[in-house]
Amino acid sequence: MKYFVKNINFNKIKTDCIILGIFKNSKESLKNKHLSELDIFLNGKITILSKRENFFGNFNQTLLINNFHDLFFNKILLIGCGNVEKFDDFRYEKIIKNSIKVLNSIGSSSILFFLNELNVKNRNMYWKIRLAIKYIEEELYFFSYFKKSLKKKKNFVTKIIFNSVSKKYIPKILLAIKHGVAISEGIKISKDISNLPANICTPIYLSNKSRELFEFDESKFSIEVLTESDLKKNGMNAYLAVGSGSKNKSLMTIIKYKNSEENKKKPIVLVGKGVTFDSGGISLKPSNNMHRMKYDMAGAASIYGILFSVMKLSLPINVIGVIASCENMLSGCSFRPGDVLTTMSKKTVEVLNTDAEGRLLLCDVLTYVEKFQPDLVIDIATLTGACIVALGTEITGLMSNNSNLSEQLLVSGKQSRDKVWELPILIESKKDLYSSIADIANISKKGTGGAITAAYFLSQFCKKYKWAHLDIAGTAYSEIKDSSTGRPVDLLVQFLLNKCTDFISLF
Ligand code: BES
Ligand code: ZN
Ligand code: MN
Repeated sequence: MKYFVKNINFNKIKTDCIILGIFKNSKESLKNKHLSELDIFLNGKITILSKRENFFGNFNQTLLINNFHDLFFNKILLIGCGNVEKFDDFRYEKIIKNSIKVLNSIGSSSILFFLNELNVKNRNMYWKIRLAIKYIEEELYFFSYFKKSLKKKKNFVTKIIFNSVSKKYIPKILLAIKHGVAISEGIKISKDISNLPANICTPIYLSNKSRELFEFDESKFSIEVLTESDLKKNGMNAYLAVGSGSKNKSLMTIIKYKNSEENKKKPIVLVGKGVTFDSGGISLKPSNNMHRMKYDMAGAASIYGILFSVMKLSLPINVIGVIASCENMLSGCSFRPGDVLTTMSKKTVEVLNTDAEGRLLLCDVLTYVEKFQPDLVIDIATLTGACIVALGTEITGLMSNNSNLSEQLLVSGKQSRDKVWELPILIESKKDLYSSIADIANISKKGTGGAITAAYFLSQFCKKYKWAHLDIAGTAYSEIKDSSTGRPVDLLVQFLLNKCTDFISLF
């Protein structure tokens, strides 16, 4: 998709379709400068047709007016925005997605877009453009890798021209386009990787992917891949145990992005759970929906997306992405319930359930990353079904050992609408993870509060730095679309943008 901005008159620009948002209150719609201009230009045709077709501007109602063959545009799509006082982030998202869906389905190619001129409560032009791009790309996304019938499928819409009433907005709109496009490309990469099944997307596939995406830019990127013997040398036995039942060998990929002026600037470390398939191991999962456990590498996939956006924006920061990949399978070599593992930190863990594997590989990676002397560490993991029970599928679970860091993530969530909600880490979890023979057990004996006990477990390995944990079990995958969502790419790119002083005043 190509995005442009213009400060225009209707009769000056050639496009296939004009989209206008119309509020319900008729007085308001008359106030819509573009609509009345356009109506005059068309000798009142819009007013006549709106009446005839009972178009009142109800929320999400649409009216397509076409056959303007001899004009500069062919069609007009009016989309209802409902009551002006009720128009918020949520409604902005819905009308954008709905109108793009309509226009794509009727084969519209280029669109003159006026929805960014609608007033959205507490949001400015930068936000409206950036989020519009995310919503447009989200609406048009499809995964065509394996479906013959989709191989040739193309979206019809290929060009969006944002209108700007005032020339003064143009520089901010251009910046928002740049950011919006970079973030959407990152989201798409994350979705495409995450949607791959486990027979294709193996640990080795993931490490090759990092070379494919980033190795060409040697001035900013360096990549290191640790094999099972490297992990062994580091004493990462909990990580190795998780992959021990699979013929696909575990691999940890470290992608370093260095682009800060201040050379000594401590890196921000992002750790992604990359379990390419989570069968549960010997503590086998029920077969119902087990295929969805191909998404258990969504955290890792999001790191590719984040780094891709960071690269596109050339952000002046240092980031290290760690892809912790392995496959949790069952075989004669699998680790078992009852096993005691000595982690890299030397703490011992009693495995009470091989399906609580994410925390086992992550605990070793969280110890490993100490060597980078990080400014802060964020892990991203489809960690617990309990987080889905607690928060549902719209909002990512956030747990942190630093309130400043969690506040920054909450703010980034509000800015990007890639939302997070904080859950506590409780010292009381200690007794729930008691093991009679090891330092800690990998699951709680209680059947409740599983997202919190999992975070407590991880926190025991993050005492040396500021750390936040994002449990994306509910948000990484959309059941309605049967696809990855690409979350939390937007959240974390926003968090990183906020670290760059040039961009903090944009919202
Ligand atoms: N990958 C799963 C968590 C998950 C569940 C993600 C559903 C997405 C959707 C994780 O490894 C797991 O199996 N967790 C267990 C932990 C339990 C054994 C303490 C769970 O949530 O059931
Ligand atoms: Zn898992
Ligand atoms: Mn599991």
